[in-house]
Amino acid sequence: MEPELKVGLAGLGSVSRTILHNIQTIPNVKLTAVADIRQEPLDRAREQYGVDTYTSVEAMCESSNVDAIWVCTPNLFHTEHTIIAAEHGKQTVSAVQEHGWSSADACLQALLAARDALGLEYVAWIEDRRDGAII
Ligand SMILES: NC(=O)c1ccc[n+]([C@@H]2O[C@H](COP(=O)([O-])OP(=O)(O)OC[C@H]3O[C@@H](n4cnc5c(N)ncnc54)[C@H](O)[C@@H]3O)[C@@H](O)[C@H]2O)c1
Repeated sequence: MEPELKVGLAGLGSVSRTILHNIQTIPNVKLTAVADIRQEPLDRAREQYGVDTYTSVEAMCESSNVDAIWVCTPNLFHTEHTIIAAEHGKQTVSAVQEHGWSSADACLQALLAARDALGLEYVAWIEDRRDGAII
């Protein structure tokens, strides 16, 4: 049997609607858990997708039913949630998509420091929406 990557999605806002749908179509990937501070989208996700639900990203990261975390919470939580996921040994996808280069840079520097401290690999995609540059 092919290995399966069990993914937990952090943040069930507007962007999550696309992710929740598309993730079902990726081979060898299974959505197993979601986290949000709001109960209503958690209940809906449990009903629609049969996933485990958590009211904090940290609690979701403690689950052995999750291999990787997709961070889709508001921008100001990206650094914190990505570091929490990394500290729990989870592969992590997050967007460093702040408004203004200085805050994006601060976010990236914090993530790189965490990567070095934890000895993990980290891939960043940095996009400047003003001119479309990808760094
Ligand atoms: N909206 C877009 O078109 C778009 C496109 C690409 C990327 N993004 C990025 O995706 C991310 C999410 O965007 P969105 O539009 O879905 O935002 P949103 O505000 O609609 O949703 C954020 C969700 O995170 C939850 N949340 C807030 N604090 C939390 C916490 N501490 N722990 C757990 N959950 C928490 C909220 O309850 C909400 O459900 C942002 O970083 C955004 O930049 C957005």
